[in-house]
Amino acid sequence: MMLRFGHRGAAGYEPENTLRSFKKAVELNVDWIELDAQICKTGEVIVLHDTKVDRTTNGTGYVEDKTLAELRTLDAGKGEKIPTLEEALDTIARKAKVNIEIKREGAAGKVFEIINRYVRDKGWQWDDFLISSFNHYELLDFRRLTDKVKLGAVIAGIPIGYAECVERIRAYSLHPSKEFLNQALVDDAHKRGMKVFVYTLNETDDIEKVKKLGADGIFSNFPDRI
Ligand code: G3P
Ligand code: CA
Repeated sequence: MMLRFGHRGAAGYEPENTLRSFKKAVELNVDWIELDAQICKTGEVIVLHDTKVDRTTNGTGYVEDKTLAELRTLDAGKGEKIPTLEEALDTIARKAKVNIEIKREGAAGKVFEIINRYVRDKGWQWDDFLISSFNHYELLDFRRLTDKVKLGAVIAGIPIGYAECVERIRAYSLHPSKEFLNQALVDDAHKRGMKVFVYTLNETDDIEKVKKLGADGIFSNFPDRI
């Protein structure tokens, strides 16, 4: 079965990484919602792709220089606010599983603390989460905190020795970009017992191509096209 990942929620339909986008993804019946995690000046984990707020809001500057209160004044599109990770989880409410992509170095501990709380107190399961990152050291930190959570190694390109690093973090899945995906990589990851989830496919011909290679999941801004 091909798993459908709503990328930044359903970013093709609603402002990316907003509660509105997550609701839309749930409406489209995705298996997983992918979102990006950053940390702001006051230490909260917030959901935003870039290190700066410029592209997706009406503000300017770095997230790490802004307090949560300051971030709250910004419009992230259609009047939406930048959500905290907790708000995103409360909105998704286990209607889809959640792939948290760690964008900020040093965020592993805080993200773990939050999902630990959601598992302990709010009826979520460890299996509802998949933690991923381009920063594999961050994943290694996460793995040192727990064995219970699935980890996904995001790669852009095909690094020599990729297998060593994904095995070291005991990755559940490999998340390659569509640009460099080939049959050998899919087969090699499968041979090592990993799932292959490919980002980010918005055109139906690209989606068909990746399906033929035998990938296990696809990230899309338009998850209903998968
Ligand atoms: O997690 C897959 C994909 O979202 C990684 O790239 O830049 O869209 O966060 P990016
Ligand atoms: Ca992402």
